[in-house]
Amino acid sequence: MNVSSSTPTPALSFAHLSKSYAVGFLARQRRAALTDLTFDVARGEVFGYLGANGSGKTTTIKTLMGLVFADSGEARVLGLPLADPAWKARVGYLPEQPYFYDYLTPREYLDYVGRLFGLSPSVRTERANALIEEVGLQDSRDVAVRRFSKGMAQRLGLAQALLNDPELVVLDEPMSGLDPIGRSLVRGVILRLKREGRTVFFSTHILPDAETLCDRVALLREGRLVKVGRLDEILERDDRNLLEVLVSGGDLAGIPEASRTGRMGERATLQVTEPELLATLEALKRGGSRVLSVQPIRQSLEDYFMKEMGKGGGGPA
Ligand SMILES: Nc1ncnc2c1ncn2[C@@H]1O[C@H](COP(=O)(O)OP(=O)(O)OP(=O)(O)O)[C@@H](O)[C@H]1O
Ligand SMILES: [Mg+2]
Repeated sequence: MNVSSSTPTPALSFAHLSKSYAVGFLARQRRAALTDLTFDVARGEVFGYLGANGSGKTTTIKTLMGLVFADSGEARVLGLPLADPAWKARVGYLPEQPYFYDYLTPREYLDYVGRLFGLSPSVRTERANALIEEVGLQDSRDVAVRRFSKGMAQRLGLAQALLNDPELVVLDEPMSGLDPIGRSLVRGVILRLKREGRTVFFSTHILPDAETLCDRVALLREGRLVKVGRLDEILERDDRNLLEVLVSGGDLAGIPEASRTGRMGERATLQVTEPELLATLEALKRGGSRVLSVQPIRQSLEDYFMKEMGKGGGGPA
């Protein structure tokens, strides 16, 4: 594979993309699913596409893959317009609900996909075997897919998405239905793809995974882009340098009410600013509390997501 990271065109680009679906009686009304989507994904990036249920992630990905058509605007894949079939052989795609001919085994299915991509028999066999191992299906390589659990089907879907040695991989909820071992395996695959200089664009609800994997993320709310950026920019530490103090027992009377943020039985949590810390620790000592931990409060992607999703309005009409 020849992946050129210096290529100036982005791996994916969206310009004012809008999409609505026909709804209602006789499908006479339309409801916006995507509104004026504009952003790029650079080559070699691992890019997370985040949003609540129904926010338009799958619609975006289906539009890219040519499965639904945008009302207006444009998307490009590897610098090519969607209508140009030349990008298809260079892109891997895992649908949200992968569908298989369920009488086939993983080996047969991957061989079939390899034929569609015009791969030679030896390359098909070699890649299918390697991918079956990588996604952990080696013990089920000759089992008909109809006997597969949801997580096993998801793993096969991932293998299928990688069979053509793609430069760009588009994954719609790759962790969905996977147990912790499966999730860790998918994380490993995504990191491997990144090391090889490929681009990965994936949608997810599993925010800790996005947090560990992504160079950048986009946050979608009701079909509109809320934020695009690097995680360390989005998750700025609170300017006030807040610290959380976990204490056990004692009398908290010396601690201002506003600093006491939680109580569970004997334990209490306090939030204080850095300059307040020393005085707080002294007050705790006087009150006879034990200090269990002091930690800086760093906003997680989960906190950010909850905050942004909680904001109403701004959605499509
Ligand atoms: N074929 C369709 N016909 C009509 N409306 C649709 C269709 N597909 C999706 N929608 C609507 O478009 C909006 C976006 O759906 P989409 O599946 O893109 O969301 P999503 O972000 O992928 O959600 P999830 O996290 O649940 O997978 C939703 O309001 C959904 O009801
Ligand atoms: Mg979806």
